Amino acid sequence: MEVVKEFSKFANEYEKHNIIQTAVVKKLCERLDKVFYKNILDIGAGTGGVYEELHHKNIKFSNFVALDFSQKMLDIHHSDCNIKKLCLDFNQKNFSSVFKVHEFDLLISSSALQWSHDLSQVLQELSLLSHNFLFSFFTANTFKTLHQCVNIESPILSTELIIEALNKFFNYDLELVEYQLKFDSVRDMLHYIKKSGVGGGVKQLSYKQMKMLMMEYKLDYLEFEVLFVKVKSKKK
Ligand SMILES: C[S@@+](CC[C@H](N)C(=O)[O-])C[C@H]1O[C@@H](n2cnc3c(N)ncnc32)[C@H](O)[C@@H]1O
Repeated sequence: MEVVKEFSKFANEYEKHNIIQTAVVKKLCERLDKVFYKNILDIGAGTGGVYEELHHKNIKFSNFVALDFSQKMLDIHHSDCNIKKLCLDFNQKNFSSVFKVHEFDLLISSSALQWSHDLSQVLQELSLLSHNFLFSFFTANTFKTLHQCVNIESPILSTELIIEALNKFFNYDLELVEYQLKFDSVRDMLHYIKKSGVGGGVKQLSYKQMKMLMMEYKLDYLEFEVLFVKVKSKKK
């Protein structure tokens, strides 16, 4: 598995809070090999990162389903007569029963499935809905040094657990990418984490832990690790 490092510059302005997710969506969509899809399902669609990138790449579709458990995020997502917004929790068992088997010719999910409570269960349900899948996952190595500094465990899945779950259902190509985002201060980093939606357990830090971070975090950047997955075929 190839590990690629990518670097982004300063991100201490509020409007840049989703800079990494945007870079991730862009990189994920580079793997799309068609200019038209009939039916697309976007899992954890949020405010529309995937839709925006398809639009940017001039990739067309007949129907696009944006699934997210946050109605507030979906409200911001671009609306159109061929876009259906579905407020659903992918951690709920049988959430996929609202769809038909192989209903979608593309099932895509960017920066969302690392929040799966039982990834095998979620992937098993998703595997029924398409033959064509693209996924990106933030891994537990996101904010690794920061977590070590305050001695907390990442609340998101490790690369190993993600791969273990993928292996049950898919044959695929993988790429592991490390991103670094530079900041002027630890305070700016914490502010970014609060606004970014990446979370990573840092939002719940006590005042004492925050103080410790301010004193002891030696890097001038935050670390992110993202696993990109293009499914080649389903396991029989
Ligand atoms: C980091 S955002 C990514 C949004 C978008 N895919 C992008 O790349 O711009 C993760 C999204 O996943 C959604 N999400 C997290 N857990 C979810 C769940 N259990 N069911 C449905 N959506 C979920 C969040 O509400 C959020 O909109």
